[in-house]
Amino acid sequence: MKKKIAVLSGDGIGPEIIKQALLVVDAINAKFNHQFEFLHALVGAIAIDATGNPFPEETAQICLHSDAILFGAIGDPKYDNNPKAAVRPEQGLLAMRKRLGLFANIRPVFTYESLIDKSPLKRERIEGADFVVIRELTGGIYFGEPRGRTENLQKAFDTCVYSKEEIIRVSKVAFELAQKRRKKLTAVDKANVLVTSRLWRETIQEMKHEYPDVELDFLFVDNAAMQIITNPKTFDVIVTENMFGDILTDEASVIAGSLGLLPSASTGFQTSLYEPIHGSYPQAAGKNIANPLATILSAAMMYEMSFQLIAEGALIRKAVEESIKAGIVTVDLNATKSYSTSEVGAWVVDYIKKS
Ligand code: IPM
Ligand code: MG
Repeated sequence: MKKKIAVLSGDGIGPEIIKQALLVVDAINAKFNHQFEFLHALVGAIAIDATGNPFPEETAQICLHSDAILFGAIGDPKYDNNPKAAVRPEQGLLAMRKRLGLFANIRPVFTYESLIDKSPLKRERIEGADFVVIRELTGGIYFGEPRGRTENLQKAFDTCVYSKEEIIRVSKVAFELAQKRRKKLTAVDKANVLVTSRLWRETIQEMKHEYPDVELDFLFVDNAAMQIITNPKTFDVIVTENMFGDILTDEASVIAGSLGLLPSASTGFQTSLYEPIHGSYPQAAGKNIANPLATILSAAMMYEMSFQLIAEGALIRKAVEESIKAGIVTVDLNATKSYSTSEVGAWVVDYIKKS
């Protein structure tokens, strides 16, 4: 199979983890006889430095004309502590999501047997946990208007807006995924307080009859935050709005044992995008210590979801699982005996070549 992949390494540890994922992709393609062309493009702080724009038009065009996008991370401490910065790297990520119409962010949460005891949560709570969060990604308070400051600068406001259409299209992804899994969907909202959440609940209730085989329940987000770490096994598919999904998925990463393990896919109207859920981790940038597995697993999702190449995705997953079992892990997973980013990547590549 011949494909064009847009590669957006971004900032911080982005380039190091993407490099390992591309080596894994090369190994898979050699084995299965695929040809992928990598088109590198700028996004984030590095794009601001080069062009003044965190998501330049050239990058947008490369993404729109590719078959899939592999994305690293964005963010730079020089912006984090400067709330007055006019242009911010994160704006590049949000602009990209909006421009590419990536309305459904799919974030699987799982455990590896050999890592269960690494989680700060008790084994009996998390063993066997396996669920997917579908986070709405192009609406809500991240994008709602009006937003801004009053003239005297003494007040600031953001607006949470959702249309029925936005709720329907992302909930459809969630219902359909639930049908392919254990047929349980939990919709997370704050319908006891927020009008937008009541529209979410009403809309999802109206959709339910189209999916008679799916068991549907609703949870308020504060309760969901508690249930996710106390009873993670009760979840199958969760669907929720943009900011709730952002917060709950960082929380859920504790179940896996490290934020450095969780991949994600974002799908919508155009090219799909695959990225680790963690950020740019600037403290680790250039040190060759970041965990590349979330990005490598994101590449597995790319094979499976964008190209329906199931065996390719499965081999990547197997290689990752075996590397963890063999203890070839970065410092986030083992503080006493750890391997570098490139050593972990090389082990995974080697496993693929030999299998
Ligand atoms: C994520 C990140 C982003 C978000 C930031 C970097 C803007 O936290 O992808 O979860 O809030 O969506
Ligand atoms: Mg986040």
